[in-house]
Order: sequence, then C-alpha cells, then structure tokens
Amino acid sequence: MDIYKLLKFNNAIKSHRIKFFGLWLLSVLNRRHLAIQFDPVLACNLRCKMCYFTDEEYVRTNMKGIFKETDLENLAKVNFKNALKLQIGCGAEPTLFKHNAKLIEIAKDYKVPYISMVTNGNLLENQEVINLSKAGLNEFILSMHGVTKTTYEDLMDKGIYDKFHEVLRYITEEKKNNPKLKLRINYTFNVDNFHELKMFFNVYDVYSIDIIQLRPIDKIGETTYNNFSIKAIENDYQEVNAFLKKESAKRGITLLSPKTINRNEEQSLKVKTENDSSYLIPYTYCYVSPKYYWKDDFDWKTETFANWQKRNNWNSKLFKNIFTSKNDLEKPNRNMLNYSVEIN
Ligand SMILES: C[S@@+](CC[C@H](N)C(=O)[O-])C[C@H]1O[C@@H](n2cnc3c(N)ncnc32)[C@H](O)[C@@H]1O
Ligand code: SF4
Repeated sequence: MDIYKLLKFNNAIKSHRIKFFGLWLLSVLNRRHLAIQFDPVLACNLRCKMCYFTDEEYVRTNMKGIFKETDLENLAKVNFKNALKLQIGCGAEPTLFKHNAKLIEIAKDYKVPYISMVTNGNLLENQEVINLSKAGLNEFILSMHGVTKTTYEDLMDKGIYDKFHEVLRYITEEKKNNPKLKLRINYTFNVDNFHELKMFFNVYDVYSIDIIQLRPIDKIGETTYNNFSIKAIENDYQEVNAFLKKESAKRGITLLSPKTINRNEEQSLKVKTENDSSYLIPYTYCYVSPKYYWKDDFDWKTETFANWQKRNNWNSKLFKNIFTSKNDLEKPNRNMLNYSVEIN
C-alpha cells in the first residue's frame, strides 16, 4: 500500500463530514483505520535544541520507561488488525530499543500495510539497517535540523554529521536489495536553518531519497532553541518551497510541505492547516508508549480495543461527528505534531 497516495486522497476530500462517514464505516466494519505511533523507549541519545529533550524538567518527569519485549505480542493483539500504519518512534528515539526487528515481524504477521521508523539515525549500524529492512520495514524517516555539518551538529546536539551520512549510505545500499524500502527526510526548520535548504541537493543528491518533509518549528517545550517565530522567513518560504518542489519533482521525490507558513504568532505557534484531517486525529491517532496507551481510560493489558469501543460508544461518537460543526470538533483537539502537507 502506498501510504502517500492514501494521504493525497485523504487531503483531496475537503469535507470533514465525508471523512467521518468513511471513518465510521471502517470502524463499524472492524476494518483498518488507525495510525499507531509507538514509542518503545522514552529516551534519546541526542539533545536537539528545538526538542523537549533539552527541557530538563520535562525529561525528568516524562521520559522514562522501556517496553518489555515479552509484551510485544500482547500489544499487537489489541489493535494491530485495525492498523493502517505503524510508526515506530514518535516523541523519542526508537533505535534505543533492541527489539525493533521483532516488533516489525509481529506487525507483518498482523498484515499492517505500512511500517515506518522515525529516527535521528545516529545509532544505526549497517547490519541493523539490513535486519529492519528484512523484517519488513517499509520506510526509514531520518530527521535532520541542518544541511551543513556546522548547523546539524549545533542544532542536533550530540549528533554526528558524518555518522548521519554513513547511515544514509547504508540505507541507499539496502534499497538496492530491497527496492520497496523508502527513505524519507524530515527537516524541521527555523529562521536559522531554513536558507540552507537551497543547498540540500548539492549535498544529498547522492542518496536515494523518496520523500522530503519540511516541518516548521513548533513550540513543544521549554527548549534550548527558543526562537519560535518564523515571520522573518514567511516571504522567502514561497521561493524556497517552489525551488525544492521543482528540484524534488525532477528527481521523482515527493515533497511534503505546508502551502504557507503564515500564522498569527500571538494566537498560536502552530501553522494553521486547511486540512480537515486534523479533526480526525483524536479518533485515528493511537499513541502508545511504555507509560500510555491510546486514551486515559484504556488499560490495554486488561481490555480489548473492541470492548473499549463498546464501553465508550465509540461508533456512535464517530457517527455524531458527521453532523458536528468544525468549531465543536476543534475543542478537544490537541496540538500535535501534525502539519498541513502539500504533495507534488
Ligand atoms: C521528537 S522527534 C522523535 C523521533 C526521533 N528521535 C527523531 O528525531 O526523528 C520527532 C520529530 O519531531 C521533530 N522535531 C523536533 N523538534 C521539533 C520542534 N520544535 N517542532 C517541530 N518538530 C520538531 C524532529 O525533527 C523529528 O522529525
Ligand atoms: S528531535 Fe528526536 S533526536 Fe532530537 S532530541 Fe528530540 S527525540 Fe531526540
């Protein structure tokens, strides 16, 4: 399954009512409709300056725990059969977990159609890349916060630029054995690393990249880097985005980027999206970590997804949302790492 085609299709449907109708139908029919975001470990080897891993208080309070290998099978039983997608890594670093290949194999047993891993890549060795690919990983998403060594190593504190390139080489090589494997780059930008994007292809053309996502900085904590304003690059954004779009298209790369980064910074530090998919997030985005599973009242060790849905009148809620206004839907929405994307 090409998850990017699905994303494109989903973006093409503008009405949140139609989206909820589709979701309700999938849920009633017990079909796949969830995006599972799984943090198997709540820790990170880096201290990126835009990330809450530089917020000591936050790390002390929230970042603890490793998923037990012996729990993976039971975890999968709960709702992997309803998963459209499993993303390993979400808010922490998944390569610190030693059982990712096993997790992927289990997800494959449940026929999860798309399995990705989002990582800083710095801990990946060649054999691990091969093992994950052989286990059935569909996509490596490598995060970077700078095109040049100086910016990369400054913004991704403890990150090693040369190691990052080594991993890109490993993945590029592995793609020759497994052409279905995709390589995606996530570039989180701020006013200081944005203009370097113009040099992106001068440096990264040698790697077999399939997708690039540009993510505007969001305030996700009391982070070391704290210039969250992107006003100064609002105008340049259009030009650089158009350039990257053209260059990506030439190379057959899918570019995921916001149409505009204009936002009223007094109201919100999140780029406002025209994409109605964000209304579906509380109903489709299943976050799992050693400390948390999907919703506050869901204990996955004692209850199945079907029971939980029944207890919460889940399908009725989905059905009611078909008739609910966007304003009312917006109320319980959390500010998640989700951006309006434009696909070329
Ligand atoms: C928190 S990281 C966790 C996964 C993994 N450690 C990684 O870096 O890919 C998830 C994504 O958030 C991005 N990110 C970090 N700080 C951010 C910020 N302030 N605003 C938006 N995205 C951010 C990262 O670049 C990464 O792509
Ligand atoms: S962005 Fe990812 S790699 Fe960087 S500190 Fe945060 S969790 Fe770690």
